[in-house]
Amino acid sequence: MTIKIAPSILSADIMNLERDVRAADKAGADVFHIDLMDGNFVPNMSFSPSVVEGMRRVTDKPLDIHMMMQNPDAYIKPIVDAGASTILIHAESTQHIYRSIELVKSYGVRAGVVVNPGTPLETVKELFPIIDRILVMTVNPGFGGQKFIPGMTKKIQRLDQLRQTAADDNFDIEVDGGVNPETIRQCAKAGADIFVAGSYLFDGNDADLKGRIDNLRSLAAV
Ligand code: DX5
Ligand code: ZN
Repeated sequence: MTIKIAPSILSADIMNLERDVRAADKAGADVFHIDLMDGNFVPNMSFSPSVVEGMRRVTDKPLDIHMMMQNPDAYIKPIVDAGASTILIHAESTQHIYRSIELVKSYGVRAGVVVNPGTPLETVKELFPIIDRILVMTVNPGFGGQKFIPGMTKKIQRLDQLRQTAADDNFDIEVDGGVNPETIRQCAKAGADIFVAGSYLFDGNDADLKGRIDNLRSLAAV
């Protein structure tokens, strides 16, 4: 598939969120990545469904929701109603990941599973037939601006190989955490399709978003 660049609004200027979202939209963002954190599954708090609803009003681009919360099932319907395009759920955040994925899909929304750096791919293999996406965390979830964990490149590669040999290979591979010009090419070569970038895109006062998105896109074109 064609590669996609997904700005993570966690690193946007919260007091100027609309400005940053419109700027990233205009600069060529393919989708927006929205992190929902509950201060429980991860040691940080961030956005809620109302932010998804607000985002839906200012952009027509797809909204990918990365849920970092315990008991995600309770929030799936509000997030769907708020305008989510894809909902991504951590394998460990729910007692029954298969059921949670089915619940997302029952609303006609795309579903994906998220694997933490310490989560083996084996954990999510049984989900291949029903998922649209696997999000590989390349940092421990919870914060923007962390360093890419180098060993994760091999994991992406292994996942891509599994995808090629599996009968049900209809899922995209997304990477999240520490994606920047130094790390994106290795992820692309390993087989990733969708690239989340937060701090690289939004940090700095005079961020040239178009220049940065174009730069990521050309580096990922392998
Ligand atoms: C971290 C979040 C990421 C975060 C990435 O838990 O899931 O989406 O915004 O930020 P960077 O690109 O700065 O690593
Ligand atoms: Zn994320």
